[in-house]
Formats: sequence, structure tokens, C-alpha cells
Amino acid sequence: MPEYDALADLYNVEYDHDYDLPLWLDLAAREPGPIIEWGAGTGRVAEPLARAGHDVTAVEISEDMAARGREKGGAEWITADMRHADPGHDFGLAVCAFNSFLCLTTPDDALAFLGNAAAHLKPGGLLGIEVSAFRPEELAAPPGGPALQHDLTRDLPDGGTLERFSVSSYDAAEQLLTMRLFYELYDSGNVMYERRSGTLEIRPTTRDELSLMLRLADFTVEAVYGGFDGEPFTAESDHLVVLARRG
Ligand SMILES: C[S@@+](CC[C@H](N)C(=O)[O-])C[C@H]1O[C@@H](n2cnc3c(N)ncnc32)[C@H](O)[C@@H]1O
Repeated sequence: MPEYDALADLYNVEYDHDYDLPLWLDLAAREPGPIIEWGAGTGRVAEPLARAGHDVTAVEISEDMAARGREKGGAEWITADMRHADPGHDFGLAVCAFNSFLCLTTPDDALAFLGNAAAHLKPGGLLGIEVSAFRPEELAAPPGGPALQHDLTRDLPDGGTLERFSVSSYDAAEQLLTMRLFYELYDSGNVMYERRSGTLEIRPTTRDELSLMLRLADFTVEAVYGGFDGEPFTAESDHLVVLARRG
């Protein structure tokens, strides 16, 4: 079962940020289409691109996530695995936003996706990938071992509140970060009415590993940024954005 199935109904509440959208909208205005978003979630990026008038196909492995994206109504949705999905035609711009690339938990999975992304780009087409950049101290366990931390508080649409906690552990040999997530849902009277947990596993990458993988998949890396405004990537960057062109 795709990891995000169990979390799909909370995704729009947890992740409502839009600071990355200008980057993707600017690229969409600059590059020929059509556009494909790989690992599109519930359409946080795909739907604003479609609303801006672009022809967008959204590929998402979790049917529960894709169903929420479909409700938004702008993009064409395909429920499939981005390692080998065949969307049926080729694209001028491909987007892999907000850590969807990190959901590929082995180098072989990552390379399978990049090969598939290249196969569905027109010659000269552009692939943009954005992932979180983790500092070593963010991945290291605190003294005493992995500890519970409070991640976020969000307002629920019904007037209640969502609290999320997590315990993370990082296996440096496998390059895998396992996050055990704990959710508490409170009604408007602050009475807890639901508790649930879920597990997400991601594979943090680095600028040079990602660039090498892109080269292996016959891309030419065109730009590397440390954020969404074209800033350089440094050891302090929270984000890694790589733009690569199909030869
Ligand atoms: C962190 S979310 C990001 C969603 C979206 N790109 C955004 O910016 O909000 C990662 C998404 O990638 C999807 N995903 C993970 N592995 C996938 C795969 N092999 N093929 C397609 N989608 C995948 C997950 O189900 C999840 O919806």
C-alpha cells in the first residue's frame, strides 16, 4: 500500500505552503509544454500550473492522494508509479517537487525514475527536481537516541486542530531516513477525537549525487540553486533545486 494512502486526507492541511510555486510557474512560462508533474501528491503544484493555463499531467502512486487532486479539476491525473508510468505522450517540462524524488528509496529506483522521466521528455525538454537539503546534525540522532518531537500545529477545516509529532532515525549506510509520524486531531472544543500514526521513509540525497544520477540518465545539469529565488546552493541551504535538460 502506498505510504501516503493513510495520510491523504490530512495532506492539504499539513502542507499548504506555496513559496515554491513562483519557481515552477516561471519555468512553465519560459519552457515549452506540455507539463508533467511526477509524484504530484494532491496537486499542490500541478493544479496552480493548470489554473495558469498550462496543459498539465499529474502522476501519483497513491490513489487516495490522486483522488484529492482530481477533485481540484485542472490537471489530467494518472495513478501510477513514476519509475515506469507511461503517460502516453512526451512533455516539454517535467517537475518533481517537494521531496517526491526522495520517496525513491534506492539508487536503482531513483535511476529508474530519471530514465523514465527522460523517456517522456521531448529532446531539449527540462526536468526540475526540488528536495529538502538536510544538514548532518539534522540527520544525527540526539544524545540518548531518537526522540519524540513536535512538528506542527494546523487548523482543521471543521474548526478543530491537528497536532503532529514524530520520531526519526537515519541509517547512514542505507541513506534512509525513517519518520514515524503521530497525529492527534482535536475538535473545536479542544477534545481529542482521533489518534493515528504512519511511517514515511525517504532517501536524502546530495547535490553531487543527484547531479551524477542525472548525468547517468543522459541529462545535462543546467542549474543548481539553494532555494526558489536562484540563490546559490551552500552548506546552509534548506532546499536543493536542480534543473537538467534532456540531450
Ligand atoms: C512529499 S509528497 C509531494 C507531493 C507534491 N509534489 C507536492 O509538492 O505537494 C510526495 C508524493 O510522491 C508520491 N510518490 C512516492 N513515490 C512515488 C512513485 N514511485 N510514483 C509516483 N508517486 C510517488 C507520494 O505518494 C506523495 O504523494
